[in-house]
Amino acid sequence: MKFLTIGALLIGTVSGLAADHIIQGARIIPAKDTSALQRIGAHHQKYPDRRTVTIRPSKNDADDVSTDFLWGIKQANHGGRLLLQKGQTYVIGKKLDLSFLHNIEVQLEGEIKFTDDVKYWQANHFYYDFQKSITFWVWGGQDIKIFGKGTLNGNGQQWYNDFAGQEILDPDNTFYRPILFLTDNATRVSVEGITQLNSPCWTNFFVRTNDISFDNVFINAYSTNASALPKNTDGFDSLNVNGLTVTNTRVDIGDDCFSPKPNTTNIFVQNLWCNNTHGVSMGSIGQYSGVKDIIENAYIENVTLLNGQNGARLKAWAGQDVGYGRINNITYRNIRIENTDNPVVLDQCYFDVNATECALYPSQVNVTNIVFDNIYGTSSGAEGKVVVDLTCSPNAVCSDVHLSQINITSPAGSPAEIICDGIHGDIGVSCQSSSSSS
Ligand SMILES: *[C@@H]1O[C@H](CO)[C@@H](O)[C@H](O)[C@H]1NC(C)=O
Ligand SMILES: *[C@@H]1O[C@H](CO)[C@@H](O)[C@H](O)[C@H]1NC(C)=O
Ligand SMILES: *[C@@H]1O[C@H](CO)[C@@H](O)[C@H](O)[C@H]1NC(C)=O
Ligand SMILES: *[C@@H]1O[C@H](CO)[C@@H](O)[C@H](O)[C@H]1NC(C)=O
Ligand SMILES: *[C@@H]1O[C@H](CO)[C@@H](O)[C@H](O)[C@H]1NC(C)=O
Ligand SMILES: *[C@@H]1O[C@H](CO)[C@@H](O)[C@H](O)[C@H]1NC(C)=O
Ligand SMILES: *[C@@H]1O[C@H](CO)[C@@H](O)[C@H](O)[C@H]1NC(C)=O
Ligand SMILES: *[C@@H]1O[C@H](CO)[C@@H](O)[C@H](O)[C@H]1NC(C)=O
Ligand SMILES: *[C@@H]1O[C@H](CO)[C@@H](O)[C@H](O)[C@H]1NC(C)=O
Repeated sequence: MKFLTIGALLIGTVSGLAADHIIQGARIIPAKDTSALQRIGAHHQKYPDRRTVTIRPSKNDADDVSTDFLWGIKQANHGGRLLLQKGQTYVIGKKLDLSFLHNIEVQLEGEIKFTDDVKYWQANHFYYDFQKSITFWVWGGQDIKIFGKGTLNGNGQQWYNDFAGQEILDPDNTFYRPILFLTDNATRVSVEGITQLNSPCWTNFFVRTNDISFDNVFINAYSTNASALPKNTDGFDSLNVNGLTVTNTRVDIGDDCFSPKPNTTNIFVQNLWCNNTHGVSMGSIGQYSGVKDIIENAYIENVTLLNGQNGARLKAWAGQDVGYGRINNITYRNIRIENTDNPVVLDQCYFDVNATECALYPSQVNVTNIVFDNIYGTSSGAEGKVVVDLTCSPNAVCSDVHLSQINITSPAGSPAEIICDGIHGDIGVSCQSSSSSS
């Protein structure tokens, strides 16, 4: 009798706990329940079954499920998976601190959509001094995998409308716009298969992150309002990152396609496609007085760059009161560039420092061991016959810059011109100084 009572009590307590534990509309399915996992679309060819958490989707665009999402992330943390189901939308209307992750998978088959409550997000966000960046959420920790065929939707239209006519570089600008995906203090992060749509500002920014990879991702930003286009929606930006890999990815946005910023090392890019972008750009670095910035060991291969402002670019600051550092060991190989204003650029007199000034205050960012190999296609003709423009500061370190198999034509006429100013040593192709260019 006594035993029975205790047994009943225990059972009552455990099931009571479990009921409290699961929030409304959520489920937790054990890894071994293969058929249930199959039914909800969580059985994946590549990723072995795990304890899988689902949460309720949003009923409409105002139905904020950020509390459910955070609960789901916590339940899936330490070896599980959060599944966001196909055909469902999950609206996030509150900022989220996801800095505590450790061995988690997020399978995104549906859509995560941020609210466009500009007023809320401008008062509630995570802020980074670097270029006055803000974000909806911060992902941090280790062993984080995000995969699926779903969409991360920044819902940027309202932001584009409201920002129209303003400039991010305007020192008086206080209209900050959130970054769609940001990692900070993270190690081993992979993102695969998803679409990233209409970020209000940069699409991806990685800070203090080691070993992050993107594979088979599509990044797109567009506006339905011709007088308010997306701005500064860069594909990839990084700061203090070691190990950055982007493969098999397509980016169609009106700003940098791939642009590692200060202290990014060990970069690998392969099979990247960029349309309408400002190119694949190392830097700019060396902007801030007294600060040392490095970009080193980058291998960029098989990139297609269409309809862009720039193609393959390196940029380091010069002038008074700037920083120092190096851009070293960067290879661009097998790059197809079409209809692009500045197909190949090396600018060690950034930003717009004229020749006199650049000689007087040369860049303190050393540019060394740069390879451009098999770069072909067409310019837009915006720079006349110039298709490659390499401008180093006189009196700065700029050496071991090697070009081979360059075949870029200009609609402005032939032969196309390669400008080389201030580079030490032979660059491997014939070139001329800007002063003698036609
Ligand atoms: C970075 O994350 C680790 C845990 O992964 C934590 O111990 C450390 O405090 C974090 N560092 C910062 C600066 O937040
Ligand atoms: C388009 O953007 C402009 C500039 O912000 C704005 O004045 C206008 O109301 C927007 N149009 C629509 C239909 O939202
Ligand atoms: C180069 O990248 C494109 C995608 O932009 C891809 O279709 C093609 O197969 C890649 N080429 C090689 C040799 O991998
Ligand atoms: C690339 O962008 C142009 C606009 O500049 C657009 O017309 C074209 O459809 C895009 N290409 C693809 C394959 O999406
Ligand atoms: C880059 O790393 C150096 C240390 O090597 C550090 O002093 C500097 O502040 C970093 N730059 C930025 C912009 O964080
Ligand atoms: C240059 O960078 C590549 C990675 O892109 C790396 O494999 C190679 O070891 C680096 N070279 C040197 C001399 O460090
Ligand atoms: C730049 O080159 C100079 C001259 O070789 C060297 O003394 C300096 O250490 C280099 N700077 C960096 C950050 O590598
Ligand atoms: C170069 O820039 C400096 C500083 O901005 C300016 O004072 C100077 O007039 C410029 N020189 C030429 C030739 O444009
Ligand atoms: C350069 O490209 C053009 C256009 O694709 C091609 O006709 C020409 O043969 C190429 N030249 C060389 C030297 O590869």
